[in-house]
Amino acid sequence: MRFDVLTLFPEMVRAPLSASIIGRAQAAGQVTLGVHDIREHGIGRHRTVDDTPYGGGSGMVMRCDVVADALAAVTTAHGPGKVVLFEPSGRPFDQRMAERFATEAHLVFVCGHYEGVDARFAASLGDRVEVVSIGDFVLTGGEYAALVVIDAVSRLLPGVLGNADSARVESFAPGRGLEFPQYTRPRDWEGWGVPEVLLSGNHAKIEAWRDAQSEERTARVRPDLARR
Ligand SMILES: C[S@@+](CC[C@H](N)C(=O)[O-])C[C@H]1O[C@@H](n2cnc3c(N)ncnc32)[C@H](O)[C@@H]1O
Repeated sequence: MRFDVLTLFPEMVRAPLSASIIGRAQAAGQVTLGVHDIREHGIGRHRTVDDTPYGGGSGMVMRCDVVADALAAVTTAHGPGKVVLFEPSGRPFDQRMAERFATEAHLVFVCGHYEGVDARFAASLGDRVEVVSIGDFVLTGGEYAALVVIDAVSRLLPGVLGNADSARVESFAPGRGLEFPQYTRPRDWEGWGVPEVLLSGNHAKIEAWRDAQSEERTARVRPDLARR
């Protein structure tokens, strides 16, 4: 799968994605990452990418012509792809959206900064763009959102996780709520033991205990999920 990220701060995206599982997925050719500096399409000698908002107000707005030129360059080089624009006002990202994105061959992420991107950019793309938020809070830039989405989507791709079961039985997987609590060695730690059932070797009992824990935790922590 190919991800292209359009950003004013390429270094915010490249370094985190070069480590761990996503770094290995790139080395193995399961994930291809392109990071593109929007400023290369800035206006004039100073490569200006933003301007003051029409109607007044604080902050700066990213210019639609500059961002559209940056997108056109990626499209010309790598094909159209589905465009994801990050904004706090977008549709909330969740595991279902991650699963849907994982079926795409090519995603192009547009990271806003300052007060965001001139609204005409998204309007001009029609159905080709999906405006996405990663939660009800405001970040300084869409780069953090791109990292979150790339990570959540990549780990669903075939072969990226060593154990295919990991993604199938985790929190938020289809038909599941939150995962049960996990334990490993040491068996006794500062007076804290491990639930006896996990040491019993009885797989049916262990599965039943885990299902019950998962249900209890989901009802307690995320009643909204439990209802669904
Ligand atoms: C400071 S924010 C702009 C906030 C905007 N003025 C508002 O009030 O909705 C700058 C950029 O960070 C990114 N961003 C901030 N919060 C986000 C969130 N919750 N989800 C996704 N992207 C976010 C977006 O790309 C946004 O354009």
